[in-house]
Amino acid sequence: MDVLTGIGDMQVRAEQDRLAGKNIGVVPTMGALHEGHMNLVRAARSACDVVTVTIFVNPKQFGPGEDFNSYPRVLERDLSACEAEGVDIVFAPEAGEMYPEGFSTKVAVAGLTAVLEGAARPGHFDGVTTVVAKLFAITKPHRAYFGQKDAQQVAVIKRMVRDMNFDLEIVVCPIIREPDGLAMSSRNVYLSSDERREALALFRALKKAEELVASGTRKSADILEGMKQTLTDTEIRKRDYIAIVNPATMEPVETLEPDQPVLVAVAARVGGTRLIDNTIVTLAE
Ligand code: PAJ
Repeated sequence: MDVLTGIGDMQVRAEQDRLAGKNIGVVPTMGALHEGHMNLVRAARSACDVVTVTIFVNPKQFGPGEDFNSYPRVLERDLSACEAEGVDIVFAPEAGEMYPEGFSTKVAVAGLTAVLEGAARPGHFDGVTTVVAKLFAITKPHRAYFGQKDAQQVAVIKRMVRDMNFDLEIVVCPIIREPDGLAMSSRNVYLSSDERREALALFRALKKAEELVASGTRKSADILEGMKQTLTDTEIRKRDYIAIVNPATMEPVETLEPDQPVLVAVAARVGGTRLIDNTIVTLAE
């Protein structure tokens, strides 16, 4: 496995692989790798000749007062995990390599970035699209792998790829959960054991939404009400949002229609940690 930190080195390597006719799969991450990330790596490994994992805690996608400084950084452990899954290349640049003095470009998707995570974290998605556009130009993927855990990020990146004609395929992989249902996240390490229990409220609320839709509930207002009833008072106070939206546009859906999947998304603060989770549900005919 090669570990590269220079943009030029990475581009030369990617170009050589392309010229050799190899199919390149890229998994962008911020490190502190867990099963959610490794599942993306395995999906890339099974479909691509060359697998590149990028590890970069991107300062531009953290707001002031967010956890950029305390975000877990465990590069040695991440490299072992990548090695064990047969990753070919890890690209792990320093911030100064990605954003040298004078860097002044922003890639921004309008509209669907204004709601949900975008409303709660102003500027976050501009940071994501800017770094992901750079990572695509540097690692030259044929396929890039993203997790459904960050459903709005998937929608935003797909839109950027479509609008800017990036010549690559976005592959979306399902949410990987702990045995009790908590969605895996690099931020779960911040949770105390009490908070860890409280964090299950997100999953419980989503399960409730799935049950209500399976039993034929069509009105989003009724589904949201049922979800709220599964949350205790403190959990409700700490909730950022619960929303039922179109998974591609993030526009609110009022009434579910058969065979039209909707995204049920929740965000909540548990202790000092902000957690997000979601599920895609479809009303049966
Ligand atoms: P990060 O939070 O490290 O996540 C990297 C990828 O892993 C994302 O595509 C995310 O959706 C996916 N992922 C995380 N937890 C998951 C889980 N429990 N199940 C399935 N997939 C999961 O997302 C980012 O980094 C950054 O915004 C990035 C795209 C790298 C740009 O900086």
